[in-house]
Amino acid sequence: MMNSPFIIHPLAFSLHPLAFIIKMSKNNISTSNSHKGEFTKDTHNQTGNLIKSASTTSSNNSVIVRLENISKIYGFGETEVRALSDVNLVVEQGEYCAIMGASGSGKSTAMNIIGCLDRPSEGHYYLDNLDVAQLDDTDLAHIRNLKIGFVFQQFHLLPQLSALENVMLPMVYAGIKVAERRDRAIVALKRVGLENRLNNKPNQLSGGQQQRVAIARAIVNRPVLLLADEPTGALDSRTTQEVLQIFRELNASGITIIMVTHEPDVARQTQRIVWFRDGEVIHSHLTPEEIGQEVAIS
Ligand SMILES: Nc1ncnc2c1ncn2[C@@H]1O[C@H](COP(=O)(O)OP(=O)(O)O)[C@@H](O)[C@H]1O
Ligand SMILES: [Mg+2]
Repeated sequence: MMNSPFIIHPLAFSLHPLAFIIKMSKNNISTSNSHKGEFTKDTHNQTGNLIKSASTTSSNNSVIVRLENISKIYGFGETEVRALSDVNLVVEQGEYCAIMGASGSGKSTAMNIIGCLDRPSEGHYYLDNLDVAQLDDTDLAHIRNLKIGFVFQQFHLLPQLSALENVMLPMVYAGIKVAERRDRAIVALKRVGLENRLNNKPNQLSGGQQQRVAIARAIVNRPVLLLADEPTGALDSRTTQEVLQIFRELNASGITIIMVTHEPDVARQTQRIVWFRDGEVIHSHLTPEEIGQEVAIS
């Protein structure tokens, strides 16, 4: 199996949440039944017990994200940038939060740490009660795949794969058999209202539909946390509302959501706004009604 093109190098996961998809696309992988078995062997290996415990959904403690005195420093000496400074943040299971703040205030840096794409320079991060600092890159990649779904502004779908195949991909790495992958992908696509577009390629879908496929892909591994970075940034106002409606439904079903947005009208549709300024959290619990004053001074 080691030389099989279907083995994915674990480090590939360390670089980007979708790196594994990109890597697999280079091997021109189809997710049809003809590959049955090839994806499913050897995928339960390596981190064994850690993954078993991590894949059980959330434990008794209802805190999903706990950032404790997190700092992130890029570069050193004269070029040193303190992107985050002593950030404390707790997000509980079931919350729906927006992260706002001016450009350069540390939102993406915080999301990268919360998404286990980057590590803090100082402080501790507990994801679903797991101390992320204790994990090596491989384990971190496993945890990310099991616990976190990502949605991006630019969708990041694989153009040569159908909607169904795009949504099936994250389950490959989770070691789920192909028949179940297919079933679960169909359920996820139904949840976002795309059951009639299973076989469409991304270029046969509108922007809003592509984002819905990306959301289906993000939730198909049943993550405890959905992270969305400007998910409506590339959408018109009508499709923005469609996407926000889906987020509300997902949140109502129990998924914790954290979304970066610079649009006050989008943030107002969440329950809680976290406001960053100069690498610090200056408000951790703004209500949608309180946004106006912050927008006015920033
Ligand atoms: N890889 C990096 N290397 C050096 N500086 C960075 C890097 N990423 C971000 N920064 C800096 O950290 C600060 C916060 O950036 P970022 O988290 O991207 O802010 P935001 O997402 O709120 O616009 C900015 O000053 C930015 O220039
Ligand atoms: Mg950013």
